[in-house]
Amino acid sequence: MAQLPSTLFITGADRGLGLALVEEFLRHGVDVFAGIHSSSAEIRGLTNVDYSRLTLIDLDVSAPDSIRSAAAAVDRHTHALDVLVNNAGVHLEDERVPLEELDFDDGHLERSMAVNAFGPLRVVQAFLPLLEEGTTRRIVNITSEAGSIVACRRDREFAYSMSKSAANMATSLLNNYLVPRGFGVMAVHPGWIRSEMGGPEADLSPAEAAAEVAGIILGPLPENGAIYIDHRGNNLPW
Ligand SMILES: NC(=O)c1ccc[n+]([C@@H]2O[C@H](COP(=O)([O-])OP(=O)(O)OC[C@H]3O[C@@H](n4cnc5c(N)ncnc54)[C@H](OP(=O)(O)O)[C@@H]3O)[C@@H](O)[C@H]2O)c1
Repeated sequence: MAQLPSTLFITGADRGLGLALVEEFLRHGVDVFAGIHSSSAEIRGLTNVDYSRLTLIDLDVSAPDSIRSAAAAVDRHTHALDVLVNNAGVHLEDERVPLEELDFDDGHLERSMAVNAFGPLRVVQAFLPLLEEGTTRRIVNITSEAGSIVACRRDREFAYSMSKSAANMATSLLNNYLVPRGFGVMAVHPGWIRSEMGGPEADLSPAEAAAEVAGIILGPLPENGAIYIDHRGNNLPW
């Protein structure tokens, strides 16, 4: 990006990486619209941030009405959005079971797809008019290395991994569709993070991951044209 974006929308900012990214973007002087799913307690508790640049917007990325309302709410503040970060995600506990115990009837497969795969796509569709008015036109889907088919090393976590592969494909399709309209579209693996999702053994604190991921989101597009990359900017195999 030649210049820093001035406006950005991020989903799933209640906690974890999303919350840490909000802090990071505010530190860079960006006006942040933060999608809140269930609780704004942590984001309201942030210290040393410029609250005049932060607007909280209720958003469930699996609910079409909620997404439409969120886009309309942002539109009441600004008609132009520079960056969209699809960060919201779920990794449901009950999917860490082997094939024999996989429950197809408990709804976790559908919920994972609705949030992780179709959620980002729905959000892009609803926010596209705002993004088209922006100057930097950047869409970043926080997917995962778990979505890589080439580098697959797991033998379970079907719902999470399959939904992240689908989000990667959405990224590639959107890239093909939107690059001619001046957009940059990326799928970013943020590292293994000590959030509720990543657990206490993970490598990176949310703040450490957010510093690296924000550098990628706010920085120039990779010169080699890679659009599936990790938090350090390394190209990932699809
Ligand atoms: N943690 C890792 O090691 C890791 C590794 C690779 C990729 N990632 C990806 O990084 C992103 C952030 O992960 P994280 O570690 O910060 O996870 P997290 O701590 O579990 O936070 C997930 C966030 O998404 C929100 N969310 C869940 N369902 C939602 C919905 N239907 N609509 C809107 N928001 C929703 C959650 O809100 P609630 O609090 O209301 O549930 C929460 O704010 C995810 O996409 C994840 O897949 C994480």
